[in-house]
Amino acid sequence: MKTRAKITVVGAGFVGSTTAQRLAEKELGDIVLHDIVDGIAQGKALDILQSACLEGFDVNVKGTTDPADYSDSDIVVVTSGLPRQPGMSRDDLLMKNYEIVKGVSENIKKYAPNSVVIVVSNPLDVMTYVAAAVTQFPKERVIGMAGVLDSARFRCFIAMELGVSQRDVQAMVLGGHGDDMVPLIRYSTVSGISVDKLIPAKRLEELVVRTRNGGAEIVKLLQKGSAYYAPSSSVVQMVSSIVRGSNRVLPCAAWCTGQYGIKNQFVGVPCRLGSSGVEEIVELELTAAELQQLQSSAAHVAASVEKLGIKA
Ligand code: LAC
Repeated sequence: MKTRAKITVVGAGFVGSTTAQRLAEKELGDIVLHDIVDGIAQGKALDILQSACLEGFDVNVKGTTDPADYSDSDIVVVTSGLPRQPGMSRDDLLMKNYEIVKGVSENIKKYAPNSVVIVVSNPLDVMTYVAAAVTQFPKERVIGMAGVLDSARFRCFIAMELGVSQRDVQAMVLGGHGDDMVPLIRYSTVSGISVDKLIPAKRLEELVVRTRNGGAEIVKLLQKGSAYYAPSSSVVQMVSSIVRGSNRVLPCAAWCTGQYGIKNQFVGVPCRLGSSGVEEIVELELTAAELQQLQSSAAHVAASVEKLGIKA
């Protein structure tokens, strides 16, 4: 009897290994951590496992270089790829990460054909498309992580501005995970109070800009590599909703089939996440300006997909 979910994390860099750690500590499933470089996944997995008696978790954590270990995974999280360096946009990673994510997706198709795939590699929305094109999985089982992260950053900045608990701040950021993402001020609240009643419009616009540049701000500070604490927490929130079937409504890169006037492409929209993956795309009422921003962000993603000449 399978008593626990099996979750594979591909890529044992900072995002992958922190994700594996958080998943284990929350006991969301048995974890396989995979990397192509011999030793790194095995070493980090063993290190995480040796914290089990101290942190008090009972799941297994295994490191491997063998993609056959993906077999029977309920969820595969793809973190493989190069991170951004200072001055780079996410789009600058397109060709290199395409080759990497393509290879990983071939392994997922072969060894974990029933899994839900969560893509984290950048450029996020395009790499999600690559995973869907290569695996040819039903689209509800291929999802990109970005909206949860971008919304968490917006929530953090709103909370810092007002001196309130981040837990009381809700925010929704839609669109591609790029410079033209769409933070929705009208749907952002502090305990139900719309933020535009609490923060002057000009200041809110500054917080929106800081959210759009949230990833780059950290890349610039670190100088080497990109963020991983908030990205891994964002993945874990999505995994949790799927493994527990909790049907949380979270912004994710999902396959749109006409919602928001966007067709046959992955872009960040509010999703109900449950045991099948994306159970539903929630359609919010948007103003003409918000809709226009979302569609133009989607058009940017489509232009990058076009360069790859692939079809999901
Ligand atoms: C970021 C990278 C992971 O936003 O895209 O931090």
